[in-house]
Amino acid sequence: MTVSSRTQVGIVGAGPAGLLLSHLLALRGIDSIVVENRSRAYCEARQRAGLLEAGTTELLRTVGLGARMDAEGLEHGGIYLQFEGERHHLDFRDLTGGRWVTIYAQTEIVKDLIQARLAAGAAIEFEVSDTEVGALDTDQPVLRFTDSAGTRHEVTCDAIAGCDGFHGICRDSMPAGLVQVAERAYPYSWLGILATVPPSSDELVYSRHEKGFALLTMRTPQVSRLYLQVPADERIERWSDDRIWAELRHRLTVPGWELKDGPITEKAISPMRSFVASPMRYRRLFLAGDAAHIVPPTGAKGLNLALADVTALAKALTSLLSGGQAQAADAYSDTCLRRVWRATHFSWWMTSMLHVDPHADQFGATLQLSQLRYVTSSRAAATTLAENYTGYFALTWD
Ligand code: FAD
Ligand code: PHB
Repeated sequence: MTVSSRTQVGIVGAGPAGLLLSHLLALRGIDSIVVENRSRAYCEARQRAGLLEAGTTELLRTVGLGARMDAEGLEHGGIYLQFEGERHHLDFRDLTGGRWVTIYAQTEIVKDLIQARLAAGAAIEFEVSDTEVGALDTDQPVLRFTDSAGTRHEVTCDAIAGCDGFHGICRDSMPAGLVQVAERAYPYSWLGILATVPPSSDELVYSRHEKGFALLTMRTPQVSRLYLQVPADERIERWSDDRIWAELRHRLTVPGWELKDGPITEKAISPMRSFVASPMRYRRLFLAGDAAHIVPPTGAKGLNLALADVTALAKALTSLLSGGQAQAADAYSDTCLRRVWRATHFSWWMTSMLHVDPHADQFGATLQLSQLRYVTSSRAAATTLAENYTGYFALTWD
């Protein structure tokens, strides 16, 4: 038996994009349902991003999601860039006229969003299976799924948002031949750890070392997050905790500074990829976040882009569904792709500048060092990095 129902917007995926979209639509009086194939506990524990652009934090505050972020988030006014054994500070506030970034983990944003949505009585179906989207060539697309109790549902919608991440089903449900993909694979991955030890630095340290890139970041004043460049096909079993700390120490230490270590509570390897699918819309199916684009994490842009997409989408759907105005929906893909391509270039540039490319020759390696010296000595070059890192495009919600 299939249970039929209807709502205004069907949202696939309870990651940051899907959850924020459902929250923003509710603020505009638009009903939605969110379907998610994982459990609530899994979504709240999945370790991913940690760094928010200034505009992202302002947006979360404006829409009533800032309380815990303001209490627990860590504001950073810059980063350190390290190469050839020297650490250089970039002061974002000075370079950009006062902009900053905030460390507040994606896990915490997801928890805040789920709590806010459930408190508002929203429909979020966790642990669904066999999600499908159909009737996409009509103005009444349908969302089908089987709930955690085994009941099949068919929800008729006015629009569907594919917020189902890179491996979701929505992108591939668009008509064959419509979507163009621009893509770049990198010949390395990131090994990321979470460790119970106070961060050894007040701000993030991005280190280009001849053995490979390393990044020191953090989650709270008690928890550090660190990353190491490893070969693309690396297996996590090859990395004991002692080996990880030794390699981090080797790539991050500078004279007069020591890396503190502690128990590792989580470790995983993530591939690095740039990927942009366009257009991000077919009729009333809209893609947002990682479902449409992936950037390598070096620029810390993925989560910020996902939240920016759904901010534009919530505005477009409000005009379409409440005001009968299609202009913003028609412009949605182009509006998002301008921001996406800026972030794609920035993330590619940061990645290329800081990682050791196993195929690069002496020429490539020397160009990298020249670029790093330029960024740390020219105010114009440092400003380019700072204005992209803190968020180049404004993000507004009136
Ligand atoms: P996701 O978070 O992937 O959510 C998609 C959801 O859809 C998931 O919950 C999934 O289970 C669900 N789903 C998938 N298929 C289906 C289906 N068929 N039916 C129902 N549900 C489905 N970004 C930053 O901005 N700053 C950072 O510092 C940063 N650091 C990162 C570090 C690492 C190691 C990694 C891997 C990523 C990092 N990112 C960072 C990127 C960021 O985590 C992602 O861009 C972000 O999660 C995208 O959110 P999303 O909601 O679009 O997709
Ligand atoms: C993180 O905190 O996980 C993080 C921060 C900055 C990056 C990537 C990841 O560039």
